[in-house]
Amino acid sequence: MKHMPYTAQANRYQQMEYRRCGKSGIRLPAVSLGLWHNFGHVELLENCRAILRLAFDSGITHFDLANNYGPPPGSAEENFGRILQQDFSSYRDELIISTKAGYHMWEGPYGEWGSKKYLVASLDQSLKRMGLDYVDIFYHHRPDPNTPLEETMTTLDLVVRQGKALYVGISNYQAEEADKAIQLLKQLGTPCLIHQPKYSMFERWVEDGLLDVLEKDGVGCIPFSPLAQGLLTNKYLQGIPANSRAAKPHGFLQESQVTADKIDKVRKLNELALQRNQSVAQLALAWLLKDPRVTSVLIGASSTAQLQDSLQCLQNTTLSAEELAAIELILKS
Ligand SMILES: NC(=O)c1ccc[n+]([C@@H]2O[C@H](COP(=O)([O-])OP(=O)(O)OC[C@H]3O[C@@H](n4cnc5c(N)ncnc54)[C@H](OP(=O)(O)O)[C@@H]3O)[C@@H](O)[C@H]2O)c1
Repeated sequence: MKHMPYTAQANRYQQMEYRRCGKSGIRLPAVSLGLWHNFGHVELLENCRAILRLAFDSGITHFDLANNYGPPPGSAEENFGRILQQDFSSYRDELIISTKAGYHMWEGPYGEWGSKKYLVASLDQSLKRMGLDYVDIFYHHRPDPNTPLEETMTTLDLVVRQGKALYVGISNYQAEEADKAIQLLKQLGTPCLIHQPKYSMFERWVEDGLLDVLEKDGVGCIPFSPLAQGLLTNKYLQGIPANSRAAKPHGFLQESQVTADKIDKVRKLNELALQRNQSVAQLALAWLLKDPRVTSVLIGASSTAQLQDSLQCLQNTTLSAEELAAIELILKS
């Protein structure tokens, strides 16, 4: 399909809040966009394009990818690369593009986890798929219990020295192993920029130590699945819609995760959100952004309407002590 040439909105930077990422020189938008779902070859490219254009027009400068995003794996990077070249090539220096390696990407012993062999090859593949000379952030996607942490961190340092990544991050590392990785990177002279953990009203393990470690070490935090893959929205209040992640065969959210208990909580959160003139998605994002240790919330969106809705969280990120207490009661009910 032929698309209109793109020129970014002139006022895009007035619409977004930018937060310093740990103790680094980088500021990230309070809302970042992830391409895990909704950007693979199974999707319509024009919908991907519309979401990316709206994001950038709204001040979202940070786009998060990984080698395996699709389906099929690799196709989100390919589609992003295509749209980048067609629409955003003159804006490259205004973008923070991240990718990751850690999960299964190709057959054999060198296609996943944390070896130097895998990480170097995977980043080279990602750069090729996206048509980039470098990414802004390269992450180790998950800890590897069998590869020495020194090997993995030395490789992150190496790709920065090679100019293939400007910064590095870690994802899904528990507090103690994150601290070790951060210290190793510091010794190597490539400080860890950011940690990417799963964090939402429904998933709060980071509050038991990780956030303290990141604060102590001056590392940013970008929670993924802040809407619990769509559960923390009004999407499932009347059952499971056919166009939802839970209903799609390639969706990572299982129908069995849409439990009556969760939906009951969302219903109560929705009432509280409405009193604040917010959607429940906006409340869930504002609740994360209340913590100054959270640099940016990393959302997904399957439509421009969803992105527009989620972005409105920025209109009200203040929560009173009473509201916070009411949320705790709901989450514990
Ligand atoms: N590091 C890691 O291991 C890891 C793991 C997972 C994700 N991530 C990153 O985090 C990003 C976000 O993850 P996520 O997609 O699970 O985040 P999410 O924001 O929790 O969920 C996004 C999904 O929720 C639904 N949704 C979003 N906004 C909505 C709204 N305003 N109203 C109603 N429904 C809405 C949509 O689902 P429908 O499709 O049902 O419409 C959308 O695809 C990923 O793209 C990826 O970059 C990283």
